[in-house]
Amino acid sequence: MTVYKRLLQYMKPYWWRILIAALASAAYGGLDAGFAYMVEPLLKKIFVTKDIFIFSILPFAIILIFVFRGTCRYFNDYFMRTAAQLAVQDVRNEVFRKSVFLDLRFFHQNQTGSLMSRIVNDVAMMQDGVGGVITGVFKDFIGFVSLLGVIFYRDWQLAAISILVIPLSIYPAQVLGKKIKINARKGQDETGGFASILQESLSGIKVVKAFSLENIMIDHFTRANLKFYEYTRKLIKYMFLSSPIIEFITSLGIAAVVFFGGSKVMAGKLSAPEFFSFITAMALVYSPMKRMISAYGEVQRCLGASERVFEIIDARPEIIDAPNGYTLTPDDNRVEFKNVSFKYQDDYILSDVSLVAEKGQAVALVGPSGGGKSTLVSLIARFFDTSEGQIFIGSHEVREITKGSLMNHIALVDQETILFHDTVANNIRHGKPGATDNEIIKAAQAAYAHDFIMEMPDGYETSIGDRGVRLSGGQRQRLCIARAILKNAPILILDEATSALDTESEQMVQKALDNLIVNRTTFVIAHRLSTVLNADKIIVLDNGRILESGTHYDLIRNNGLYSRLCSAQFNNEPAQLDMQ
Ligand SMILES: Nc1ncnc2c1ncn2[C@@H]1O[C@H](COP(=O)(O)OP(=O)(O)OP(=O)(O)O)[C@@H](O)[C@H]1O
Ligand SMILES: [Mg+2]
Repeated sequence: MTVYKRLLQYMKPYWWRILIAALASAAYGGLDAGFAYMVEPLLKKIFVTKDIFIFSILPFAIILIFVFRGTCRYFNDYFMRTAAQLAVQDVRNEVFRKSVFLDLRFFHQNQTGSLMSRIVNDVAMMQDGVGGVITGVFKDFIGFVSLLGVIFYRDWQLAAISILVIPLSIYPAQVLGKKIKINARKGQDETGGFASILQESLSGIKVVKAFSLENIMIDHFTRANLKFYEYTRKLIKYMFLSSPIIEFITSLGIAAVVFFGGSKVMAGKLSAPEFFSFITAMALVYSPMKRMISAYGEVQRCLGASERVFEIIDARPEIIDAPNGYTLTPDDNRVEFKNVSFKYQDDYILSDVSLVAEKGQAVALVGPSGGGKSTLVSLIARFFDTSEGQIFIGSHEVREITKGSLMNHIALVDQETILFHDTVANNIRHGKPGATDNEIIKAAQAAYAHDFIMEMPDGYETSIGDRGVRLSGGQRQRLCIARAILKNAPILILDEATSALDTESEQMVQKALDNLIVNRTTFVIAHRLSTVLNADKIIVLDNGRILESGTHYDLIRNNGLYSRLCSAQFNNEPAQLDMQ
């Protein structure tokens, strides 16, 4: 019930729409009752008294009543559904707003496709539930109550018999409702499963094609889809099972009324028109009841989806601002790791790492793949909190610094060159929202990106696809570098992309990086010898531990892992320093 209450909270701002809808549905439901009530006097006037006037205006009255009824119904549906739509839109906005602020860890633990499915499908299911159900329940409840009034007014004994069956229908409705909710939830979990397959195969379509994985992907997708069908089938079964069950139960009521009412008519205690009026009202009373019962199933289905949505809304980030957090100043440029250890789950990925990057120094991190280089730099930006030990920027621990100020202080060029579906200019502008065109051009020039941008069809206004699909690897890197240059942050984290570039773009990227590094405290995960040679300090990281540190020449003299890997690499590939 609390989930439903929460849903209703979202409807609150749209109360006036709901009020109009409720009034319209009251009129609509009341009309049905009036109609049933009028059967008796009308039949009497026309067939017994033979009232010509009533008879001649009756057709017009019927048309008028139906026009009025239709209008009420339209108002009810329009205002109720728009209210539900608006409420659910708020839910969707909130899920998105909440989810983008969640920790990186959350996104590593949940598949992208599954999260997308919650925001798209589950919210849509909530909408069906909220809109349809509230509309129905309003109308049906008012209709139900007023028709009940009519049948009790006509003959309370018969009425009592006919409503005896109502409690009988509550139990099956509850049992079915429970099953509907469980299967709706499972079905939605499955939707998440196939949405993930969809997302992975579409965003990785090149690999799918290159390895001829089409049929394997189709197979995965078909199987996930079939599983979804299994739950949906159960859902359909339980949702529509309620109708025949309720119909059977109501038939008991109708049979009893026909028998007892018929006996009363025969005994002369009830007139035939009264009896028909009663039967009309009773037949009418059962249909809103049936609809309310199936609406109950619909509500359960909606609740199943809402639970999944509220799970995201309720998820709390662990990495949060300390109260009265410190705001960094441009002078806070020294970065120090003090006995830092870190684990994602059970195993330590970094153990007892201590290092210092003085203001303006460039520190290069090298070492075997999986050694923990990317993890180490991600701790500076507090993508994760250390398991043990501390990281200082200036004289403050990262946990004492406000997240906003920390992020403003750091520019990141990641191993994955992520660009958004937008114009080139806007992609660079993400480095500094509100930057002028001139600033963007300057950044692009420093990143050696200006020339190729000018060759594109619309220059800086050219739209690039998600992940910048129409750009080469080197061009993408240079756009990411331009974005970081524009940000002009005192601390720079550079996780060099390992993708092999041709010599020309390699040189361009290198020059762009040289421009970027100037005057900044830089952590660079280096795969290029030139970057490593220029570094003030080289840290060799293996298995989460610092093996060696010093300048290139120190380390060569040391004759350790660095010098061994270096000489092995340089014989074949002097431009690259890939230590895998
Ligand atoms: N989100 C994560 N959850 C759990 N384990 C992770 C996560 N990210 C990385 N790891 C593990 O942490 C270890 C270090 O990974 P990391 O990405 O830091 O290595 P790296 O030195 O940057 O390697 P590369 O040179 O290949 O980029 C690896 O064993 C990896 O499997
Ligand atoms: Mg890495």
